[in-house]
Amino acid sequence: DIKTKPKEIELNESYLKITHEKLLSLKKGHKVWRFLEKRGINENTVKEFELGFSSGNEVEKSLDDTLFETKMAVEMGLMNNGKEFFYNRLIIPIKDPKGMIVGFAGRAIDEDTKPKYVNSKENKFFKKSKILYLFDKSKKYIEENDMAIITEGFFDAIAMHNSGYKNTVAVLGSNLTKDHAFELMKKTNKVITMFDMDSAGEKATLSAIDTLFSKNFQIAVANYEAKDPDELIRKTGKKNLAEVLKKSYKFHEYIIDVNKKHYNLDNEFAMEQYLKEMARWYKKFETYKRYEIMDAFITKISKDFLKDKELIEKILREHSK
Ligand code: GTP
Ligand code: MN
Ligand code: MN
Ligand code: MN
Ligand code: MN
Repeated sequence: DIKTKPKEIELNESYLKITHEKLLSLKKGHKVWRFLEKRGINENTVKEFELGFSSGNEVEKSLDDTLFETKMAVEMGLMNNGKEFFYNRLIIPIKDPKGMIVGFAGRAIDEDTKPKYVNSKENKFFKKSKILYLFDKSKKYIEENDMAIITEGFFDAIAMHNSGYKNTVAVLGSNLTKDHAFELMKKTNKVITMFDMDSAGEKATLSAIDTLFSKNFQIAVANYEAKDPDELIRKTGKKNLAEVLKKSYKFHEYIIDVNKKHYNLDNEFAMEQYLKEMARWYKKFETYKRYEIMDAFITKISKDFLKDKELIEKILREHSK
């Protein structure tokens, strides 16, 4: 039997169609096209990822004038205080794994507009903690490659797809959750995290490792010389990407190295705190019976700090009691 599509989804589809057509109808000199050009996004990419633009009357055009639909537009967050919520923004459709349009993001096109992004209100179809951007497109490639690449932002995922890495998804600037992990697990248990190379990205990476490790994923961490994957690709092109991905960190080595930086190891107290943090991970590896990782972990710590392996093991065991 054919299920009828929820009215809310139909409204989103209609809004997407109208804002997408709006964008395509604008002259290439329009500020939104100038923004896209700067970001390396051409008309083909706009079509492939169904990007749109709100000039202020696209919601109205999407509605059939009934009070019911007008109310729904407010509920779905397309209208706010009588104004179009995504006004003057680039519109990015967000789909669920089946490809239903469950929400939108609006990216400011002037660099001084705050906030830079707004999202549709969360509703029964759209929950940020469950949605991976582009999973609907990438799931088949994730399965084929038996590997997923996880980025932070919309532009990162789009740039990766354009560079041939169609097994890429993005968490929408939030942490990778257990629900995200469950979704990925249906297709693979191997991931490369490719979050931003700033402190927020480092935190997000450690949190993702924590979540993915407990679900038995094999995890690698990309490390590269740019702010984020989108900038990396614009700076050095897609040829460099293969090398970057190949050189990804083993996640346990990443944990050791990134925390060296965080703990500022210039005194004994900091060193103590650092080793406590290492002990926390060491214990986690033990809990999940990942003995080979435990061994590699203390081997690297002992090499990095020129200490005996047995001593490091003893210290970590002390700390994790
Ligand atoms: P771009 O210039 O668009 O590439 O942004 P960025 O690389 O500086 O984005 P950032 O690394 O800060 O954020 C990554 C992702 O987090 C974005 O793709 C959004 O999904 C989300 N995000 C970033 N800023 C905001 C914000 O101000 N509000 C909300 N709701 N989400 C945001
Ligand atoms: Mn930012
Ligand atoms: Mn970021
Ligand atoms: Mn970024
Ligand atoms: Mn970016």
